Amino acid sequence: MSINTSLTRLLGVKTPVVAAPMAGASGGALAAQVTAAGAFGFMATGYISVERLVNELSLVRGMLNLAPSEPLPIGVGYLGWQLEESTASAEALLSAALDNHVQAIWLAFGNNLYQWITYIRSYDAEHKRSPPTTIFVQVASAKDALVAIHDWKIDVLVAQGNESGGHGYGSAPPLLTLVPSILAALPKGGPPLLAAGGLMIGSQVASLLVLGAAGAVLGTRFLMTPESQYTDAQKRALVAAKSDATVRTMAFDRARGTLGWPTGVDGRGLYNSTVKDLDSGVDIETVKAKFDDGVRNGNPDRMLVWAGTGIGLISEIKEAKEIVRELHADIVEHLKLASELCNDN
Ligand SMILES: Cc1cc2nc3c(=O)[nH]c(=O)nc-3n(C[C@H](O)[C@H](O)[C@H](O)COP(=O)(O)O)c2cc1C
Repeated sequence: MSINTSLTRLLGVKTPVVAAPMAGASGGALAAQVTAAGAFGFMATGYISVERLVNELSLVRGMLNLAPSEPLPIGVGYLGWQLEESTASAEALLSAALDNHVQAIWLAFGNNLYQWITYIRSYDAEHKRSPPTTIFVQVASAKDALVAIHDWKIDVLVAQGNESGGHGYGSAPPLLTLVPSILAALPKGGPPLLAAGGLMIGSQVASLLVLGAAGAVLGTRFLMTPESQYTDAQKRALVAAKSDATVRTMAFDRARGTLGWPTGVDGRGLYNSTVKDLDSGVDIETVKAKFDDGVRNGNPDRMLVWAGTGIGLISEIKEAKEIVRELHADIVEHLKLASELCNDN
């Protein structure tokens, strides 16, 4: 059975699910498999070079059997604060995706995202690209949503709730509050609104569609696939984690030295001794040494594993294609259940 939302129509996909760009975890293989299964896949560029990005994109081209002249039906995600570090490298990274004619670009976590939107729009105009690149922006408040819609004229808005795995704004409300608050402020006929954070299964996605979202973004669920670039040790930790295992923290960024995030951003991951030690005042050099050692040895009590609040709902590794198929069937089943709750009597 088909599902019809403003997102499925805009992207030309069957399932209203987007696999989040996840720095250090989602490359071309994951994005390609998600798209091939009927949802929409993003790969991330956080911490990678232009050369690596180009390699990942040619992997996608190969996996989807596309000729060099054909557009790539996946998206590429960028961290705004990393782009802001050097305009020249930012433009090279953005151009690598645009030259490969990717369908969408995702921007988040920057102090000046609009300059990159302008860059993408100018590239599209110069290359007479039609349809133009679909621009996604992730926000965590109704205030930022209005700027993205009215001032930046973005194409897809992602509302990131407090439940989200990986980085996000600590002040973000939970999705059940954030989505209605943005929808109340959205103009009629505005861009599709997607919900992100803590979503692992189709019934959750269906509930957000009923709330008025056009689709959902899943990150953590797609970490638990053979295609994600997480290590086996990180995947094992995700499989073992229970629903109370995550915490929002800056401990992992302090331990690995990634401190360029905009004010108010922290990350949700599995709680372990790296967090415990930093919270209880152990000196940073000692924690860093144990963290580095833990990463090398795959020690779950020290290494970094980003994860959202939904982690306890799933405890197995599955191919991305299988996950998309399951999500689709589950969403349809729950939308039917919802519609059966109403009748004329
Ligand atoms: C490992 C990991 C890496 C992430 N990296 C990025 C990123 O590079 N850019 C970004 O905008 N969001 C990133 N996120 C956040 C996602 O965009 C999304 O909001 C989040 O995964 C949704 O919550 P969930 O993980 O509970 O599904 C990341 C999330 C995870 C779990």
